[in-house]
Order: sequence, then C-alpha cells, then structure tokens
Amino acid sequence: MDFENWDGLIEAIHACEACELAKNCTQKVPGVGSREADLMIIGEGPGHDEDIRGEPFVGRSGQLLDRMLAAIGIAREQVYITNIVKCRPPNNRDPKPEEALMCRGFLEAQIRAIEPRVILSVGRVSAHNLLDTSQPVGKLIRQMHTLPGTDIPVKVTYHPAYLLRTPSAKATAWQDLKQLHRLLK
Ligand code: URA
Repeated sequence: MDFENWDGLIEAIHACEACELAKNCTQKVPGVGSREADLMIIGEGPGHDEDIRGEPFVGRSGQLLDRMLAAIGIAREQVYITNIVKCRPPNNRDPKPEEALMCRGFLEAQIRAIEPRVILSVGRVSAHNLLDTSQPVGKLIRQMHTLPGTDIPVKVTYHPAYLLRTPSAKATAWQDLKQLHRLLK
C-alpha cells in the first residue's frame, strides 16, 4: 500500500473497514511514539485499555513494557510502538490470519516510514506474522532474525502479558533486553 505521507497513512488506518475487527472496536489504535525511532516495538493487537485510550500498550502489559524499556535506559517516547492489527479483536482473541493480512499494508508502510534500526517483536502473534513462521516463541528468541524482504534485525521476546502470568520467564526476557540494548548501541 502506498500513502501520500504519514498523515495519509494514519487517516487510512482510521478509515479502514476492511475486516470484521473494525466493526467491533471502539476506535483504531494506529501506534504511538517517535517517527525518528531507532527501535520499533510490534505487539499483537489492542486490548481493552488500548481500545478505550486509542494508544498501544497502555494497560498492565504496557506498564510492564515501559518498565522493561526503562531498565535498559529507553523511554517510551523514544521508540515507536504499534501492533500487527490496529483494531481490538473481540474478547482479546488472537487476530485471524486474514485480519492480520488486511492490516499488513499499514504495518509495512509504518516500517518503511520509520526505518527502524531494530524491531522488537513481542509475543507469538507478532513473531509469527512478522517472520512468517509458526515456530514456538521459546525457540525464536534463541536467535536473531531479519524482517523478510529487508535487512532490519528482528529480536523476538516474550509478550509482557505472558511475563505477568509466568514470572519464571523474566530472566530470559532480561537477556533479550540486554541483547536489544547491545544492538542499539
Ligand atoms: N498487547 C498487545 O500485543 N498490544 C497492545 O497494544 C496491548 C496489549
């Protein structure tokens, strides 16, 4: 998808009615942060809080994500945060492959506009869609990836919602953050 400029892209996201998700969400959640960001963080899709606020990662997962970034000296304002899908899936179900596909052009345009040095892919849905794989996250986090069709490095890590449920995974996530920090230096 080609858009005249950034504002045109965001307007197109707000106007999109390409799939069922658009009918059921409160509002679109295009993304937030710096357009000059070196780091782009890509999650799955808006949850309840994000749907109400119109901003990604503002609920409990988002607060943990902010603390994880702060631990490596990065403020939320320095990065660009978005999701695979821009509308909340009902009852927080996984976005369907066809829904992710409908949103794909928006995400690709956001990546082209921001030209991040590194992408942090959080959670299974994000990693599977970005890397076009179905391997478990526990395997994907063990190696670096490249966004298909580009030379942008992709670091996969656990979703903060998973870390909230599974504190034992936090040690691995900390290693991921340290690796991310090295990549950005
Ligand atoms: N989980 C996500 O993957 N994205 C959000 O924006 C919020 C929670």
